[in-house]
Amino acid sequence: DIDDDFVPSQLGIKDIISLWITQILQTYGDEESKDGAPVCEGSVDDLVGGPIFLALYPYFLRYGGVFKLAFGPKVFMVLSDPVVVREVLKEKPFAFSKGVLAEILEPIMGQGLIPAPYAVWKNRRRQLVPGFHKAWLDHMVGLFGDCSTQLVKNLDAEIAKGNGSAIVDMEERFCSVSLDIIGLAVFNYDFGSTTRESPIIKAVYTCLQEAAHRSTFYFPYWNLPLADVLVPRQREFKNNMNLINETLNGLIKKAQAFEGTEDLEELQNRDYSKVKDPSLLRFLVDIRGADVTDSQLRDDLMTMLIAGHETTAAVLTWCLYCLAQDRELMARVVAEIDDVMGPADGETPTAPNYEQIQKMELVRLCLAEALRLYPEPPILIRRCLEDVPLPKGAGDANVTLIKGMDVFISVWNLHRHPDCWEEPLKFDPTRFKRPFQNPGVKDWAGYNPDLISGLYPNEVTSDFAFIPFGAGARKCIGDQFAMLEATSCLAMTLRRYDFEMTKDASEVGMEMGATIHTAGGLPMKVTRR
Ligand code: HEM
Repeated sequence: DIDDDFVPSQLGIKDIISLWITQILQTYGDEESKDGAPVCEGSVDDLVGGPIFLALYPYFLRYGGVFKLAFGPKVFMVLSDPVVVREVLKEKPFAFSKGVLAEILEPIMGQGLIPAPYAVWKNRRRQLVPGFHKAWLDHMVGLFGDCSTQLVKNLDAEIAKGNGSAIVDMEERFCSVSLDIIGLAVFNYDFGSTTRESPIIKAVYTCLQEAAHRSTFYFPYWNLPLADVLVPRQREFKNNMNLINETLNGLIKKAQAFEGTEDLEELQNRDYSKVKDPSLLRFLVDIRGADVTDSQLRDDLMTMLIAGHETTAAVLTWCLYCLAQDRELMARVVAEIDDVMGPADGETPTAPNYEQIQKMELVRLCLAEALRLYPEPPILIRRCLEDVPLPKGAGDANVTLIKGMDVFISVWNLHRHPDCWEEPLKFDPTRFKRPFQNPGVKDWAGYNPDLISGLYPNEVTSDFAFIPFGAGARKCIGDQFAMLEATSCLAMTLRRYDFEMTKDASEVGMEMGATIHTAGGLPMKVTRR
């Protein structure tokens, strides 16, 4: 429910400067802490030597679910406690903006839904969410199968070339298939990245890399005058953005030209098998009406391209990585797929339908467990627009998040919280079938499998200890889409192939982009089952 009359608090430059000075005096001087949070002075080596979400885990174990990370003059509040996370995401979503994240993403996503401030967000969310209705998702399942079939055909060809087996970087393959899917689903554009390379694909990847670079670089040099002319990577970024914008603008024009064509009635009746272009863009243009500017449409498309591509590729990658290390679990997963879809004896790959995806519970729980251990993104970023007193969870401190404070919700820590999960570091999808309670975490209802109602366990099932798609008003709008897509793709690949790690699991390594990447790909030995 979005309240039309609500106006969020405003944050002025004076608020930011005054908070900054106070924080420095509190952290490095004698002034008493106004927010009551334990202070952790982060070591520069810890914070720049690797992905920041990894560095925050030992700090969390030492300082608890709420602590303040002081890193030079910059101070962040780090939250890793379910009760506190519930307060921020569910109870007070509009007391926060996207802060630093919005600043980083603005040049790429503009006023798209992820970085959008409240006034833009409330209109666009209303327009976009109905696009993900059941009939459309059902139709998309066919698309997921078609694109995964292409992946399977490519793997078959590699195996044939390698006389029965091939070493394949599965992270790269999952990235290609999810890019193809999101392009067709969102704006009816065939990247065809499973079969070819193209400048537009390269442009999309370079922009994602730039977003990652900007989110981890300590000084925003790209805002300096002429940076996009003098600095080669910024020049390249600008050219790539121009190419993507031209392509998206062309697609918007094409969708607008479609308006009123012969299949409009079928589109209105949601009879997608008879609709020529069933993309989300077509829905936005032809069903939701014309009161949206082209530039807002561009921002929406760009946001969904980025939000829906890498995330799904990452969950597939980490899920395969975890399964390949547990042969016994892998065998049970494959048995479930065979049971639901029948064994893969023929040459032509077949894709699961919606009902079959619903039946493959263990496959879906494996994907959920991969999202628990490797959440995408591992940190959610916010900035306080007003003072927010926090409830007590595992710790006893009385903490108030002060207006202007930058906040990191560490989903990585939350999903590995030793008070909320049994053997938190173990890949065990069946944990989602067992209840778990801990009276030590005050006001936390625990994990209750009876509350699973859709395709995956979520924030309700876990009382905010598991938030794979975020929670509250700013929760992901593509969660069902992503779960259907990932289940279809994983089931099709596991049904046909055996996967073996080609290097030690500990050597795979992690890098932080918009999501968690492997450090050098996920090379696997692939053979036909
Ligand atoms: C938001 C995760 C797939 C579109 C989010 C958020 C998370 C998330 C955690 C909340 C961000 C925050 O609170 O700061 C994921 C994961 C995915 C996935 C793990 C795949 C496994 C998708 C797909 C789409 C999508 C397929 C679109 C087709 C969005 C949008 C938002 C969002 C538009 C912003 C919602 C808002 O602010 O109102 N996603 N996502 N995501 N996601 Fe996803």
